[in-house]
Amino acid sequence: MLSLVTQAARETRMIGEALGPELAPGDIIALGGELGAGKTVWVQGLAAGLGVSATVTSPTFTLAHEYRGRHRLLHVDVYRLETFGELVDLGFEEWLESDAIMVIEWGDAIRPLLPDRRLEVDIRLGHRLEERSLSFRPGGREWVAKLSRMSRTAKELLAPPDAPPPG
Ligand SMILES: Nc1ncnc2c1ncn2[C@@H]1O[C@H](COP(=O)(O)OP(=O)(O)OP(=O)(O)O)[C@@H](O)[C@H]1O
Ligand SMILES: [Mg+2]
Repeated sequence: MLSLVTQAARETRMIGEALGPELAPGDIIALGGELGAGKTVWVQGLAAGLGVSATVTSPTFTLAHEYRGRHRLLHVDVYRLETFGELVDLGFEEWLESDAIMVIEWGDAIRPLLPDRRLEVDIRLGHRLEERSLSFRPGGREWVAKLSRMSRTAKELLAPPDAPPPG
């Protein structure tokens, strides 16, 4: 498991952005963390990293938003979901088999519907007001490789501008 700590929303967005270039059609990501943890903020970065130029807003009330970047992105939020049936009615099974990248806020709630080969991301509040701790659990080797590239990119992006080059 990989963990990264951020001190501002901008940093969480950068970490999302660093994963964007690694994503491929069919990738599934389940996001956890309490209300206001920063799940949507992280997805905004991820969308930017995928080349989405539209504004990414929370799909809490509509269940899903679709964006187009280098790949199709489905941003789902199951917080208000009452039954799995609602998701099935919306075409969730087709989404899973489609070439879209799917990111699901509160994904734990629908764990039985998700493939094992998924990335799980948890965001927790830290000790300070704007501190967050992001942890990444890769389901399978492909995710392990994507995460290691992501963390390299993220560390570069998060380094202070006047820091000496690493190594
Ligand atoms: N380090 C940080 N990372 C992310 N967000 C932060 C951070 N510090 C402060 N924030 C603020 O926390 C809030 C996170 O909101 P966001 O909508 O992303 O949460 P969420 O996890 O998607 O919540 P919900 O469960 O309601 O969908 C934003 O207002 C953001 O500016
Ligand atoms: Mg949200």
